[in-house]
Amino acid sequence: MALTIGLGADHAGKELKQLIAEMLRLTEHQVVDYGVAADCKTSVDYPDYASAVASDVSSGKTDVGILVCGTGIGMQMAANKYPGIRAAAVWDEFSTRMAKEHNNANILCLGARTTNYMRATELVKLWLDTPFGGSRHQARINKIREIERKVGSSH
Ligand code: RB5
Repeated sequence: MALTIGLGADHAGKELKQLIAEMLRLTEHQVVDYGVAADCKTSVDYPDYASAVASDVSSGKTDVGILVCGTGIGMQMAANKYPGIRAAAVWDEFSTRMAKEHNNANILCLGARTTNYMRATELVKLWLDTPFGGSRHQARINKIREIERKVGSSH
């Protein structure tokens, strides 16, 4: 199924994001690039880009997202503040497969300082191609939504 994929990165992830965008533009999927531009010369703050991408996935404007920073960790932390977002920082085939099969991750977070281009593009393809397992995994994801609602209404 063709997806609309939001892409975002900070200064550490901008080149890898650009390469992932070029790879994805050769597929059926549609890419929406939220920056930062690959030729940006300054440091930028990863929460700004995580927010832009996660906000649109959360509202349904885009289907899924990919976020790249130095490690993927900061992007994951920021993106997961949005309702309905299941952002997963992944680093190898197993973590990527599980992030989709068990957790139905709707945002993939990658570290440009931990994952090279070849591996990163393989992980993106694996994440897109792996089906969500559903069933007991859906029931657990429903519990994450319940936590969001409970915490959201008490803060
Ligand atoms: C930027 O230096 C770095 O902290 C950022 O890209 C990311 O790794 C944060 O999680």
